[in-house]
Amino acid sequence: MIEVDGLTVVYGRGEASVPAVAGLSMDVDTYELVSVVGPSGCGKSTLLFVLDGLLKPTAGRVRVHGEEVRGVRRDVALILQDAGLLPWKTVRQNAELALRLQGRKESADKVLADLGLAGFEKRFPSELSEGMKRRVGIARALALQPRVMLMDEPTANLDSITREHIQNLLLGLWWEMGFTGVLVTHDMEEAVFLGKRIFVLSARPARVVEVIENPGMGEPGYRGTPEFAAQVAHLRGVLGGNGA
Ligand SMILES: Nc1ncnc2c1ncn2[C@@H]1O[C@H](COP(=O)(O)OP(=O)(O)OP(=O)(O)O)[C@@H](O)[C@H]1O
Ligand SMILES: [Mg+2]
Repeated sequence: MIEVDGLTVVYGRGEASVPAVAGLSMDVDTYELVSVVGPSGCGKSTLLFVLDGLLKPTAGRVRVHGEEVRGVRRDVALILQDAGLLPWKTVRQNAELALRLQGRKESADKVLADLGLAGFEKRFPSELSEGMKRRVGIARALALQPRVMLMDEPTANLDSITREHIQNLLLGLWWEMGFTGVLVTHDMEEAVFLGKRIFVLSARPARVVEVIENPGMGEPGYRGTPEFAAQVAHLRGVLGGNGA
């Protein structure tokens, strides 16, 4: 369970200050997967940084499993925008980075293999395709065996085939692992495919302007149904009227 109550984040101070999030409230149920969409630069990554404990709220409360977030938690993982791989580290070192930062000694090899990356453990990011890099970023998060998974545009700038592949992968992982998930995306289809509810944010500073219920999410073949197309069209309309 994630509870965000009146979250406000302001970067910097004085005249140079930038309000990124203003009074944002949202709840995510345990084992629920929701998507978050909003205009470019509205504060989506900022929201995830706060949920992950990397950034402190200027005001408001954020709780995970009933506990106030005061720093990075063992059971919360973040998939960074553009995967966030370090170019001088191998695939294995990148995948184990979050574990090591937590002082944990586990291996990420099983997760890498599950994501189709067996045999690439000693390669460097520059030797990988974009889709493989994203999977290493996912492996880094999964290796923590998190109860909460935060995902920042995990398929942005991928070709459509690779994008669908990663989306299917994420849905499968959610079914198998049963995490509570927040997926940030600017892709309407992705928001509908992976969000049981879709939170629509305003332009910066972000707050929630609409919550769209999406009961068909997760059903077999949902992507090909008229309901799916109708949800995407509805979402486009909402965002269009919101200055996106
Ligand atoms: N460290 C910082 N100092 C000052 N302003 C910042 C900082 N980080 C982000 N911002 C500003 O805060 C706003 C929100 O940034 P954020 O990265 O959260 O947006 P976003 O919705 O994730 O954008 P995008 O869609 O491009 O990924 C932006 O206008 C950005 O310029
Ligand atoms: Mg962002």
